[in-house]
Amino acid sequence: MEPTNEFTTERAESLAAEGWGLDVRAEALVGFADDNFRLQTEDGRRFVLKISPPGTSDEWIQCQISALQHLATSPLAEVVPRVISTRNGQTLLPLGGESTQPRWARLMSYLEGKPLAEVAERPPGLLEEIGRTLARLDLALADFDHPGAHRDFDWDLSTTPKNSHLISDIGDPSRRALVETHLERFDAHVTPHLFELEHAVIHNDGNDYNLLISETQIGDSRLAGLIDFGDVLYTATIAELAISCAYLMLDRDNPLEDAVHVIRGYHSIRPLTRLERELLPDLIVGRLCTSLLFSAKGRRSNPDNSYLQVSEAPMWRLLEGMTMDQRDMLGKKIAGVCRSAPARSAEEILSIRRRHVGLNLSVSYSEPLKIVRGSGQYLYDDRGRRFLDLVNNVCHVGHCHPHVVAAGQRQMAELNTNTRYLHDHLAEYALELTGSFPDPLSVCFFVCTGTEANDLALRLARTHTRTKEIVVLEHAYHGHSPSLIEIGTYKCEGPGGEGLATHAHAAPIPDAYRGPHRGPDAGWRYGDDVARMVAELERAGRPPGAFMAESLIGCGGQVIPAPGFMPEAFAAVRAAGGVCIADEVQVGFGRAGSHFWAFETLGVVPDIVTLGKPIGNGHPMAAVVTTPEIAESFFTGMEYFNTFGGNPVSCAIGLAVLEVIESEGLQQHARDLGEQFLAGFLEMAPRHRLIGDVRGLGLFLGVELVRDHETLEPADTEASAVIDAMRDRGFLLSTDGPLHNVLKIKPPMVLTAADVAAVLKNIDEVLTEIEATT
Ligand SMILES: Cc1ncc(COP(=O)(O)O)c(C=O)c1O
Repeated sequence: MEPTNEFTTERAESLAAEGWGLDVRAEALVGFADDNFRLQTEDGRRFVLKISPPGTSDEWIQCQISALQHLATSPLAEVVPRVISTRNGQTLLPLGGESTQPRWARLMSYLEGKPLAEVAERPPGLLEEIGRTLARLDLALADFDHPGAHRDFDWDLSTTPKNSHLISDIGDPSRRALVETHLERFDAHVTPHLFELEHAVIHNDGNDYNLLISETQIGDSRLAGLIDFGDVLYTATIAELAISCAYLMLDRDNPLEDAVHVIRGYHSIRPLTRLERELLPDLIVGRLCTSLLFSAKGRRSNPDNSYLQVSEAPMWRLLEGMTMDQRDMLGKKIAGVCRSAPARSAEEILSIRRRHVGLNLSVSYSEPLKIVRGSGQYLYDDRGRRFLDLVNNVCHVGHCHPHVVAAGQRQMAELNTNTRYLHDHLAEYALELTGSFPDPLSVCFFVCTGTEANDLALRLARTHTRTKEIVVLEHAYHGHSPSLIEIGTYKCEGPGGEGLATHAHAAPIPDAYRGPHRGPDAGWRYGDDVARMVAELERAGRPPGAFMAESLIGCGGQVIPAPGFMPEAFAAVRAAGGVCIADEVQVGFGRAGSHFWAFETLGVVPDIVTLGKPIGNGHPMAAVVTTPEIAESFFTGMEYFNTFGGNPVSCAIGLAVLEVIESEGLQQHARDLGEQFLAGFLEMAPRHRLIGDVRGLGLFLGVELVRDHETLEPADTEASAVIDAMRDRGFLLSTDGPLHNVLKIKPPMVLTAADVAAVLKNIDEVLTEIEATT
């Protein structure tokens, strides 16, 4: 479609008045499809009025508007046009008139700046900034979707060879042959790999007329704007970079170098996978071909439209210059850039870690992974391999969720200070967070790690009850400070440990599959154990001041406490004057599926709850929530000041995480996927002698492997073999439990039903293989 030029400036002015109540002067602008006008008010405010060609689909325009609205809340808000609603609050003004087909008018903010095409001086810093901006754009759009973006589009780079029917429009036979050869190569080398590339909605037209450069600060390398979202499309994400490179290489003295600067910038923000790097040169050439085919077609059908032909001559020069040698050279340069960016080899990093980082930190897998990027439920390594992350419960709403990232970036750019100043975010977050708890849990303390939260929980309990005596569960881990190491047998009875402190008393894990009590009433019998322990302590004149347990037991082997246990244990400890601490550092925030907090699934309300890991989706923050009574006891006159806890950035991030859980329905999603997982594992269990027990709640699951269903001999080496084989198939899992024989599953909550099906299928196959050889 092309501009109709049916609209006069007077008509544009009257539309602005009618729709938006603006008194403006209009000036026509060049456009590819829309009739565009720049509007200026008397007081100097500027806008762009865009009028779509007749017959443009409503859905398609809505898609552009939604994309811009989505970006308005992202770190790119400053460089993309803002959509301005009409006086009636509409984003589109329907137009009647000349044509019977619908036309739409919409208004955008006007971004000042000079098109890059008119900027001769392009320092590497500017080009890198363009690359970084394109990468940020792609990251910001990664979670955006709209039906209008899924369309057949001639300018979809992934379907380039489809345009070959236009080859006959190219007059010169040698040029015709050149384009034909490139399209054939595209079909042979790119098309077969398209399905392996990450796909998302992209801008799809970062050409040198759509990139605006700040005129006064060119020396300062400022990109002022990215305009024209008229080509927005769901396609291979890497097309974004390829398209920009194709245009940015036009008429340059050293086109490859210019492209490499852009690619370096892009890669520093959104690292390219190996496949993306390999296909990039062919994709760049593909875009040149499409552009030349359409300008040949345009010249045939409309010899007077100069806009269509604006870059034709330099395009041919560039395409003719992109010989196989040049393309190979570009490929090598790209590989170099991606290697040399911030990249050290895995061996080099390990060696630095060995020399300069405390040795008490093991690395996952015998052949460690170097993970360079995360998105949603996926992690990507430096070789471009994609892994489904099934164990990271920290990146709760998905790795690098754009809404959370944007909230943090925005606040970080505005203010980050301590909580001795008043700030809206803290008040809002305290309200939101405590609002998610049942009464009387209504007072929170903000800290930075799960360890700090549990350490503070111990202090609260001790100040309230005036004793350190505590009942914990065997094999528990609550954190790495001395106060927590000495009460957690996972650490203090392991290598380097010094045993339980005399004030700590460990009761058996309420595991109805393995352990002293089994069967349907096991929970009550485990509860009796705690009651007996409490009674003995009372007889010894040392009644417990606290009971501390994870609501669902992680390090202990992904155990769902047997029914009856928690209410009975809580009652016994409370009867002795103690308080109950639920450690929800791993399992809170909807993971349990049926409830937002895992303790709610157990029929208890704790006195103190500790939160961590998922609370900030990877940002270091944590919290303690307690009752007004316990908080009052702690108010002794000694201040509780935490330099970083509750700062405005953390609170902005915490709020964003809560918003995503709510807006994406992640709690219900966890319940549904949990049921799918359980059903799948239970279905395969009869076929696998290694599967001893399958258990879980929501997206917190464990599959216990045993060699013998009577003795329950743990199948630990087999469990490790499953983990390794799954890793080779692109799934990151790990084992847990005192006997290292439980496959643990606690993925980011944005996993999909298709992911679950793939995990089940692969575990099924891997177990079959391992069972055949052991
Ligand atoms: C149940 C539980 N509590 C507390 C912690 C300690 O949290 P952090 O590592 O943030 O200090 C952990 C960490 O693994 C945990 O799993």
